[in-house]
Amino acid sequence: MKQPFYGIGQKLHLVRCSMNKTITYMVAGGCIFILLAQFVGPELPPVQKNPSEGIGFDQGEAQIKTWLRTACYDCHSMETNYPWYASVKPFSWLLGQHIRKGRAELNFTEWQSYPRRTQLRKLRDMGEELEQDNMPLKSYTLVHPQAKLSSQQRDSMIAWTELRARAVLGK
Ligand code: HEC
Repeated sequence: MKQPFYGIGQKLHLVRCSMNKTITYMVAGGCIFILLAQFVGPELPPVQKNPSEGIGFDQGEAQIKTWLRTACYDCHSMETNYPWYASVKPFSWLLGQHIRKGRAELNFTEWQSYPRRTQLRKLRDMGEELEQDNMPLKSYTLVHPQAKLSSQQRDSMIAWTELRARAVLGK
């Protein structure tokens, strides 16, 4: 019996077919994973629509207020603005975790309930995070480019944390 002869073209065709199959399986697997993921995992942290005064700002601090609100409040207050994809898992797992951890570390909405000592520590930590350019998180500024802070903005905010700390001490 003569062995069937596969030409190079036919061989390539076989390879391509099995690759197409692998890709199809991978895409289908991904879709099934994303579909099933919608039913598991924790809910997104809740949002307060009319929160208490929170940290509060003087008239002269309007700019700082705007910057904190655009760069920090989504993770460090109860006034989180969720984007449309926030409730889509697996994004919501990551987002929810950032917000839970962020609020636990620093929550501007609950500022008034912090003892003076805690307020001072948080102000110092804010200054450090800004100084080291750790905050806002890079994964956040990637999708919220308006939250990126220039070095001048960071300097002004650091100066503000020092002013605030002096005000807290003076109380
Ligand atoms: C995308 C969410 C997100 C944004 C936006 C964000 N943070 Fe954070 N922040 C976190 C998380 C999460 C932590 C917990 C520590 C960690 O995992 O890095 C944290 C921790 C902190 C801490 C405590 C750090 C420590 O360990 O001492 C400070 C202070 C802080 N953030 C300040 C800020 C300031 C100021 C801004 C705005 C300029 C900001 N963050 C923006 C998520 C965020």
